[in-house]
Amino acid sequence: MSLYAIGDLHLHYQSLLKAPGHLHDRVWKNHEEKFRKNCGKLITDEDTLVLVGDHSWGKTLAECEQDLQYICDLPGRKILIRGNHDMFWDAKKTQQLNDLYKPRLTFLQDSYETYQDFALVGTKGFCFEGPFYLDRRGRIMGWDEDAEVHAKKLAERELQRLRKSFELARADGYRKYIMFLHYPPTNILEERSGFTDMAEEYGAEQVIYAHCHGESRFHDSIHGEYRGRTYHLASGDYLRWKPLRIC
Ligand SMILES: [Fe+2]
Ligand SMILES: [Fe+2]
Repeated sequence: MSLYAIGDLHLHYQSLLKAPGHLHDRVWKNHEEKFRKNCGKLITDEDTLVLVGDHSWGKTLAECEQDLQYICDLPGRKILIRGNHDMFWDAKKTQQLNDLYKPRLTFLQDSYETYQDFALVGTKGFCFEGPFYLDRRGRIMGWDEDAEVHAKKLAERELQRLRKSFELARADGYRKYIMFLHYPPTNILEERSGFTDMAEEYGAEQVIYAHCHGESRFHDSIHGEYRGRTYHLASGDYLRWKPLRIC
């Protein structure tokens, strides 16, 4: 029995949305097939796979049905976290999605799931992505302060959702946690954030995030040990479509 994670599948069986430039890199060629094969080799029906957001380019649930069916057809138990591109998933209507896809998929929002003696907690997260102003040598000299104020509000709402997830698990007696975010836990300066602080406050052993894809983004946030937790980037192209084994 194992726990795996991966994010940013960006499936588009129905949506003909033009993908951003980096999605035309070789790593994205037939990525659905590469990922399906890797899952078939690695994951059994006793395993759990957490999909860490940006599942589909579809904008409505109707435009995502084939993408979600692809996920349903993967082996193991599947838990989904919301990504910034998951327009089909209104956080407030998560229960409806769960009712519709039960028992094939679990949409995790304002709640927790379990794996062995771990509580799996998570939310989309948020981090300030700029714009940053650089000097001629590429050093950061400042950033858009209005955008920063807006980002703080979004992060605060996500932190409330994450806290709810932790608190529900704690109230049910869980003391071991694995934390999932779609966005990286820090900005590109890799500064301590509300998300790294919350991971520490509850003692999450591992923090898994995605969103950073395209090679130039892979090192936007923390990799490995940081203030007593272990952080892993699990975006699909970074992992070359091989799910990351967490434990
Ligand atoms: Fe993405
Ligand atoms: Fe994303």
